Amino acid sequence: MNKPKIALLGKMNHKQAKSWLKALQENLPEETICLFSELSPAERQQVEIAIVANPDPADVETLPQLRWMQSLWSGVEKLVTKCQSDVPIVRMIDSKLSQSMAEAVLAWTMFLHRDMPAYAIQQQQKIWQSREHKYASEVSVSILGLGSLGQAAASLLHKVGYQVSGWSQSSKQLKNIDTFNDQQGLQQMLSNTDILVCLLPLTETTAGIINQELFKKLPSGASLINFSRGPLVNTADLIEALKSKHLNHAVLDVFDQEPLPDDSPLWSNPAVTVLPHISAPSDTQSVSQTAADNIKSYRQTGIVPPSVDRQKGY
Ligand SMILES: NC(=O)c1ccc[n+]([C@@H]2O[C@H](COP(=O)([O-])OP(=O)(O)OC[C@H]3O[C@@H](n4cnc5c(N)ncnc54)[C@H](OP(=O)(O)O)[C@@H]3O)[C@@H](O)[C@H]2O)c1
Repeated sequence: MNKPKIALLGKMNHKQAKSWLKALQENLPEETICLFSELSPAERQQVEIAIVANPDPADVETLPQLRWMQSLWSGVEKLVTKCQSDVPIVRMIDSKLSQSMAEAVLAWTMFLHRDMPAYAIQQQQKIWQSREHKYASEVSVSILGLGSLGQAAASLLHKVGYQVSGWSQSSKQLKNIDTFNDQQGLQQMLSNTDILVCLLPLTETTAGIINQELFKKLPSGASLINFSRGPLVNTADLIEALKSKHLNHAVLDVFDQEPLPDDSPLWSNPAVTVLPHISAPSDTQSVSQTAADNIKSYRQTGIVPPSVDRQKGY
């Protein structure tokens, strides 16, 4: 009997959809992958596996036999909150994605550690003046979230010589990384932080977690890097903390609204570096191969790969 087709659903333009289809099909030659819009009603009745990238939840509801969804992205907050069906969601955990994120965290950590924002301002003002020099071993970098991305970033930062700490929901033991969990642990970690990196998923519990209360627990002069999702940060509190100079600088790759609206005060704030959501772009080839491996494993064993815990939201 022919295997049911695999549906590809998501918010993507025609060119992007064709590029994903090509890469996925090359990695899964024994399967037929089809854009959701091109499946007949009868074919939709048969679909067991969907590959998704921010799909319209209403489309997902039209697949009665769906056993699981493979997300092409690692952040799945929209799927978790908007998709009523309890079909398992398998997040994208991809080594290339983790590597890109770790490199981005290292790059922007060094940008802050070596005072590049201050030197850029000095250049504009033609000021020839050295600032205090610190070795990486004298700088404490703390990471909120020790999942696939947080651990990759922590490990690379350690290799370069930074003092690295991390905070997660459950307690962890990681070589060369000081690990913390719960509120007391968070407070302890924050009190010894020069650069705070956010790599938490967006959930009901983490939304707005980077706020005035948290900033108060950081030493004066600390900086923030947010590479996870915009709503983790309370933007008004961030602007206030930067204005008071309690916080030195913020590197932001993600925002409540993307693209960042023209009238956002973040654009022109000299204490903010705005990045257009580029810290860890999905590598079509690598992500397609990871999705294909998961699908092949499911076809062989009938076991759905580890999926998102809907209670926890990640
Ligand atoms: N900017 C970009 O280009 C980009 C690209 C990819 C991903 N991202 C973002 O990065 C996020 C993280 O990805 P990931 O793959 O590392 O996720 P992950 O593997 O699910 O890891 C999440 C980490 O956060 C911790 N955590 C979750 N809720 C917590 C809470 N309430 N308190 C304390 N710790 C909590 C988890 O703790 P446990 O380990 O104890 O469960 C885990 O360590 C994604 O959700 C996505 O939003 C951004």
